[in-house]
Amino acid sequence: MTDIADRLEELRAAGLYRRLRLVSGPQGPRVLLDGREVLLLCSNNYLGLADHPGVRRSAAEAAMRWGTGAGASRLICGNMTLHRRLEERLADFHGTDSALLFGSGYLANMGTIAALTRAGEVVFSDEYNHASIIDGCRLSRAETFVYHHRDTDHLAWGLRRAEGRGSLIATDGLFSMDGDVAPIAELVGLARRYDCRLLVDEAHAIGAIGPAGRGSVAEAGLEEEVDVIVGTLGKALGSYGAYVGASREITELLVNAARPFIFSTALPPSNVAAAMAALKLIVARPERADRLRRNADLLRRELAAAGMDPSGSRTHIVPLVVGDADSAVALCERALERGVFAQAIRPPTVPDGTSRLRLTVMATHREAELRHAANMIGTAARDLGLATEAAEWDWEEPVSRPESALDRAPAKAPPPPAEGAPSLASQMPPGPLSIDLDEAA
Ligand SMILES: Cc1ncc(COP(=O)(O)O)c(C=O)c1O
Repeated sequence: MTDIADRLEELRAAGLYRRLRLVSGPQGPRVLLDGREVLLLCSNNYLGLADHPGVRRSAAEAAMRWGTGAGASRLICGNMTLHRRLEERLADFHGTDSALLFGSGYLANMGTIAALTRAGEVVFSDEYNHASIIDGCRLSRAETFVYHHRDTDHLAWGLRRAEGRGSLIATDGLFSMDGDVAPIAELVGLARRYDCRLLVDEAHAIGAIGPAGRGSVAEAGLEEEVDVIVGTLGKALGSYGAYVGASREITELLVNAARPFIFSTALPPSNVAAAMAALKLIVARPERADRLRRNADLLRRELAAAGMDPSGSRTHIVPLVVGDADSAVALCERALERGVFAQAIRPPTVPDGTSRLRLTVMATHREAELRHAANMIGTAARDLGLATEAAEWDWEEPVSRPESALDRAPAKAPPPPAEGAPSLASQMPPGPLSIDLDEAA
């Protein structure tokens, strides 16, 4: 039997021990972290929709109307009208025949890869793919060929060696830890040439890149050519859950063969309604994605001016690779002392020797906040000998944020209502719902 204390000690000795930090209040540009206000630079709430009043209201209204839980898996009795409506809208959004919701992106990748591949076949996976794709390959009975990151020559070599047994190429669209984008056009070409399906995981691309935030495949203009899109509801869409966009035949197979779909409770109504409201906002308000892009460009420029090298990415995910795990943790702690929180990312999430701070920008960050964050990270890195000398610095303090309805949101859960108090619905901030829930009834 494994000695747990020894395992924990091993992790500590290797610089890989992790602990949970505590955030109070909603995911905004500033949060209370372990009781201290910090600028948040590592949330995937890219468009600020997880704390958007309309999205919150839709979730709350859906809970009041449809209850808090789906009660069962979709195939038993948990398949609710709201699930169907969101699937229709997601399919419209991506221009796919159909879409199918899953409990999370992790489950979607696991279930889909395992369901689409069989013993004797080969699945091809980029070496920097997310853990959920890696675990999907492990769950599959097919062999896995891991090709070098974005290296289509290496992939082509593997496809040739598979001699017709290739069945699926799986890739992140926008790589979660590096912020770079998969070579979609070349992958489509290879998939067609070698008669394989192509799965693109758009977890970090949805809402952020491509026309109307439709992701990396849409950015490449190849929506018709990709067999399976995986998207998450938990990042730019500000909710929780995930989906697969694909042909009707593929989603029909997933309903029948994807174990994480079959054997897990359906998403709760509030999450589905929040995602529906967020999707509507993404389509109606493209300026949020524009702002995200501008903020990411600004952060990169300011980091470079502060002596850091953010050149690996052109998107809202900005990795600052420092090397060993201890250095990444030290940089994270130093930046935190200066009021900026960007989590250190270490193996096994990233390869040995490439531990980093993974900075993520939000559309709701203010320019002054990003300038300040870059300065603070640069200073922290220079203190540790991890950055070059910066030239002239602009020591601008973050501007104070005018108080908004969001800022007034309680940092702690409110006390339960007293007996006879008005219902939650009557306490909602006034204003129209972001989605017409009647449409979904
Ligand atoms: C590329 C990618 N796919 C899938 C997931 C998992 O999504 P979820 O958080 O919805 O499980 C993540 C999560 O970070 C991811 O980065």
